[in-house]
Amino acid sequence: MEITVENAIIVLKKYLKKTNKEKFKHSVRVSKVCEILAKKWNVPVEDAKIAGLLHDIGKSFSKQEILKLCLEHNITIYDFELLENVKALHGRISSLLFKKEFDNTNLERLNYIAKAIDAHVSGNSNMSDLDKIVFIADNVEPKKDDSMMLPLIQFGEINNINECVKIIIERKIKRAKKSKRVHNPLLDNTLESIEER
Ligand SMILES: [Fe+2]
Ligand SMILES: [Fe+2]
Repeated sequence: MEITVENAIIVLKKYLKKTNKEKFKHSVRVSKVCEILAKKWNVPVEDAKIAGLLHDIGKSFSKQEILKLCLEHNITIYDFELLENVKALHGRISSLLFKKEFDNTNLERLNYIAKAIDAHVSGNSNMSDLDKIVFIADNVEPKKDDSMMLPLIQFGEINNINECVKIIIERKIKRAKKSKRVHNPLLDNTLESIEER
């Protein structure tokens, strides 16, 4: 299948429309925010919309199915993911499914979008601007915890993309602390790499 927004909608419907209506709607909202952010930070708009639409398709699987897919495809599993939150692996699964569904005639583009889908849960130490946009959009879409940041980004209060990622990670860590949850330690690595820039 060719990598287009229209085909991404077909794939999104295939994975989430029946199994998880809320995630389906969230994905559409994230894609719309991705479009806004891509225009602001000069990233290819269609790629951002596609990554937004498909970032959570791995959420259609159970914990057991996620672990099975990881083992079958040699996907890295960190301790936190295995012991605390198997669902945190859904970014890697969404990325795998994306690569399976679309053809690789443009391998560079396929990998560019797949990496952003993978990175939306906890970032990585070498985030592209597309990775950052999908990560931000996932957290600031109108129904998420950091939605109050969206107008600040849109109307120029927040203009630095690294600063924006940093604020979101710090808020995630703070919320986890407050509710006595362990936060995803991969976020610490991402934060460190962002602060070094
Ligand atoms: Fe997600
Ligand atoms: Fe999401």
